Amino acid sequence: MVAVTEICLGIESTAHTLGIGIVENGKILSNARDMYRSPAGEGIIPRKAADHHADVFDSVLQQSLQQAGVSLRDIDLFAFSRGPGIGQCLRVSCTGAKFLAGKYDKPILGVNHCHAHLEVSRGLLGFTDPLYVYVSGANTQLITENKKSEKGQLSTPRFLVLGETLDMGLGNLFDVFAREAKIHPAHGGEVARLAEKGKYFPLPYTVKGMNFAFAGLLTSAVRAVGKHSNEDICHSLMETSFAELCEAAERALCLFSKKEVTVCGGVAQNKRFCEMLDEVCKGQGAKFGVAAPEFNADNGAMIAYTALSEWKKGKREKMDDLKPDGYWRIDQVN
Ligand code: FE2
Repeated sequence: MVAVTEICLGIESTAHTLGIGIVENGKILSNARDMYRSPAGEGIIPRKAADHHADVFDSVLQQSLQQAGVSLRDIDLFAFSRGPGIGQCLRVSCTGAKFLAGKYDKPILGVNHCHAHLEVSRGLLGFTDPLYVYVSGANTQLITENKKSEKGQLSTPRFLVLGETLDMGLGNLFDVFAREAKIHPAHGGEVARLAEKGKYFPLPYTVKGMNFAFAGLLTSAVRAVGKHSNEDICHSLMETSFAELCEAAERALCLFSKKEVTVCGGVAQNKRFCEMLDEVCKGQGAKFGVAAPEFNADNGAMIAYTALSEWKKGKREKMDDLKPDGYWRIDQVN
């Protein structure tokens, strides 16, 4: 009798979060996680974040197994986020997954973190071929999957980046502004909360073809501190950067005749951005969707979900070939 691979345990540790999720045939059984929180005014220090992930690994693993109601012996496939991300943090999920796969003599797959954000959103929304608006701390890209490449008809990349940030990610824009403006906690969520109470004033708007840039916007927003209220600056910063992305997304939607759009990644949890993208979709006759917040934050379930989906498409990897890759772009995924 041939063993059927049905249950996958996925480990995520590309940046501030150690997440472990378990998925059975597309059904998410658990999604436990623990986030490294840096002291006020400090960004992520790689060594400290990696130490955090190693320290909480066993408790997050036990929590995940308990939530799912399975034991490690029930896991058919182990998976981990192989990149992109912070090198020292990536080592934790890689080492953990290799140890578990070796101990229980089970197969292992390395998953691209960006691919996992895309795939879990597409799958949970029931979409087939969406335009992906991928927005997180480090990444801001418009992506489409090349279905012809999947069928072996083209040698072009499987995922095409149609447009992307030329400098910083959208999430970093908000986090850096919050730190510079001494907003506590210095996080995009707090910028969004203040933005709800603000009024708009013009800030630099930079769209270059299908790409966008945020450095000039950040500089102007920081210079406005003390001259405008923090509420007004946060509001204008968010409206301007979201509008840049909506403009490029609308162009991509028209050029590629897409009928579905999903936003994924940490910043996808922003309600105002979702409203703006929904408006763009209505104007173009496309369907808009966003997965639940827990699947847009960094999490282990998306790694397990994507690994299982790739395994069922025939993907196989050798443990010794799997090494973390901090710079693994989505358009390098096969
Ligand atoms: Fe992420």
